Amino acid sequence: MKERLIIGNWKSHKTIPQAVEWLRQIKDHKDEIPEDKTVIICPSFTLLYTVSSFVREYSLPFKIGAQDISPFPEGAFTGEVNGKQIKEFAEYVIIGHSERRRYFSESDETLAKKVSMAHGLGLTVIYCVPDAVSKVPDEVRYLAYEPVKSIGTGNPDTPEHAEAVAKTYCRKHPRLQIIYGGSVVAENVASFTNQPSISGVLPGGASLNPAEFLDIVHNA
Ligand code: PGA
Repeated sequence: MKERLIIGNWKSHKTIPQAVEWLRQIKDHKDEIPEDKTVIICPSFTLLYTVSSFVREYSLPFKIGAQDISPFPEGAFTGEVNGKQIKEFAEYVIIGHSERRRYFSESDETLAKKVSMAHGLGLTVIYCVPDAVSKVPDEVRYLAYEPVKSIGTGNPDTPEHAEAVAKTYCRKHPRLQIIYGGSVVAENVASFTNQPSISGVLPGGASLNPAEFLDIVHNA
């Protein structure tokens, strides 16, 4: 059976009290989370300590991911969060999200450095691409296909088209598992995860509300 992943990307949302409230609400339903699904929460750097501590303390069946990583090692790089620091809290890291490519001008070259940094430290990379033709660094195993027109718009790709893109990537790179992201909600999640070449989903906006996120996890 293929692995099934649900990756909640909180983006630049939530303060510590808001994150704790989200976790408290999830905690009351933790026994309903199916064991055969891999659920990954990706909060802001400032929340990583709180979220990972809570997850450990209450044995929530969640893995933790960061939303980005510095392309540099530790050192004089003001404002950057390096891989060793991320490793203290997280097992996964999202790299190449289209918002990073667009608002922070991240190039394929920078992204390749980030992937290599993460991989070298044993972090599992979730590499985002906007289309069927993007380059994929060799170390990547999880590829998130996220068409820009579908991100945060309520206008998801069709499951058939997402499957066609996923299949193209799988044929070209058999090592990859493909995730779909872009306006995933509880009502449409199964239409993506039921596709043979799609292993999971990456909801952004719909991961912010605990009840909605749980519905996505159930339906995925
Ligand atoms: P969305 O975001 O679910 O809010 O469309 C997905 C993403 O950008 O990862």
